[in-house]
Amino acid sequence: MNKAVPSNLEQVGPLMNRLPHELLENQEGVLYIDGVSTIELARKFDTPVYVMSERRIRENYRNVREALLRHYDKIRIYCSAKANTSLSVLKILKTEGACIDVVSPGEAFLALNAGFAPKEILFTGTSVRNDELRFLVDSEVTINIDSLSQLRRLLKIHVPSIVSVRVNPEVGAGHHEHCITAGKMSKFGIWEDQVITAYRTAKEAGVKRFGIHMHIGSGILTVEPFLLAAEKMLEIARLVHDEVGITFEFIDFGGGLGVPYRPEEKPLDLENYAEKVLSLYKKRIEEYELGKPWFCIEPGRYIVCDAGVLLTTVNTVKVTPFRKFVGVDAGFNTLIRPAMYGSYHPIVVANRLNEPEKETYDVAGPLCESGDLLARDRSLPEIHEGDLLAVLNAGAYGFSMSSQYNSRPRCAEVMVNNGQYALVREKETFEDLLKGQKIPPWLA
Ligand code: LLP
Repeated sequence: MNKAVPSNLEQVGPLMNRLPHELLENQEGVLYIDGVSTIELARKFDTPVYVMSERRIRENYRNVREALLRHYDKIRIYCSAKANTSLSVLKILKTEGACIDVVSPGEAFLALNAGFAPKEILFTGTSVRNDELRFLVDSEVTINIDSLSQLRRLLKIHVPSIVSVRVNPEVGAGHHEHCITAGKMSKFGIWEDQVITAYRTAKEAGVKRFGIHMHIGSGILTVEPFLLAAEKMLEIARLVHDEVGITFEFIDFGGGLGVPYRPEEKPLDLENYAEKVLSLYKKRIEEYELGKPWFCIEPGRYIVCDAGVLLTTVNTVKVTPFRKFVGVDAGFNTLIRPAMYGSYHPIVVANRLNEPEKETYDVAGPLCESGDLLARDRSLPEIHEGDLLAVLNAGAYGFSMSSQYNSRPRCAEVMVNNGQYALVREKETFEDLLKGQKIPPWLA
């Protein structure tokens, strides 16, 4: 254990437990990320700033890959770009041999730019425009169909050699209702009653190779929902195979693998997930005579979430008759998850990790909205102006969901790796607020 862990450990609580993995370290009271001081990063790059650990991304990816490979040898991991679309993150995943899940032409463009081959890119969009389909066809990425309308429009533009269909397996799950992407209320996927029509239409148009796909939701910490949905999708695959007479090159079970954010949450048992889902898979593909398709998943959060930290500086400490507010320089323009989903993110005082938690604070951003809070009722050491807070588990859906709301330029991103660091995205400037804006001639 680190020398610097104080003797008043009881008061502080099990400090190492509050830092989710060993690449986040307490060095004499200062938070280090893979050997780099967060104080140094804040000084050098200003705050707010997102910091990503390359090693942790690789570790997470390898853990998933190895867990799956223990049970089946034809696996493909389409890492979900939307969780973190930084070119450097995409490049790391490329060097690991990952494939990539994209949901917009822009994400496909970034994935191609990061060096992914078109066949390593699977596009799963919803409400897709014809010009977007054209772009995807020209880019030669694999397209996963979300509606009969999309399929018909695609086939008019071009008949691709391979097509996949996203089915709605009637089971959805997720950490928040906005993050449930299957089941009765969901806009995603094709229901069983139209699935035969979809594959038959594609086959008759001349499509030769097929995949099938589902994605039931995000932030799932137990295996049961995955199993229920997998069972349903495999039944649908059997139906299609028998009725339409096609075989599947791949069967994709989507993303959704959760990560604990709250102290009381237990991590998803990855080994158990791999063991249960793959034994069901192997049993059913044999029983249903589906051959030996690639087993695919699309983790986003699981790969990048705990690899990222958001550093933010305390501007003000304000005590009202009712609340104690810590005003920081990151708001929901920088990290929207707490405001959008009521999400909890662990927060530590990066420059005073050894100090006991003494006060209960609300951590508030700089936006002119009452909902601009990163946390409510958080136990923290006594906070002073200038302190550096680290918002943990910020690597997924952090920067990628950030905005310029209140005309605040987006912040920088930094990558750390084994004691080194580099700026991977410059912070925006006021000039970026003007970018693309035009004054109509009658006002000029
Ligand atoms: N595949 C598809 C087709 C998806 O739509 C998604 C996420 C994923 C894979 C990856 O899911 P993951 O493994 O990251 O759970 N903004 C929300 C999460 C929305 C996820 C949307 N789709 C949040 O911050 O919690």
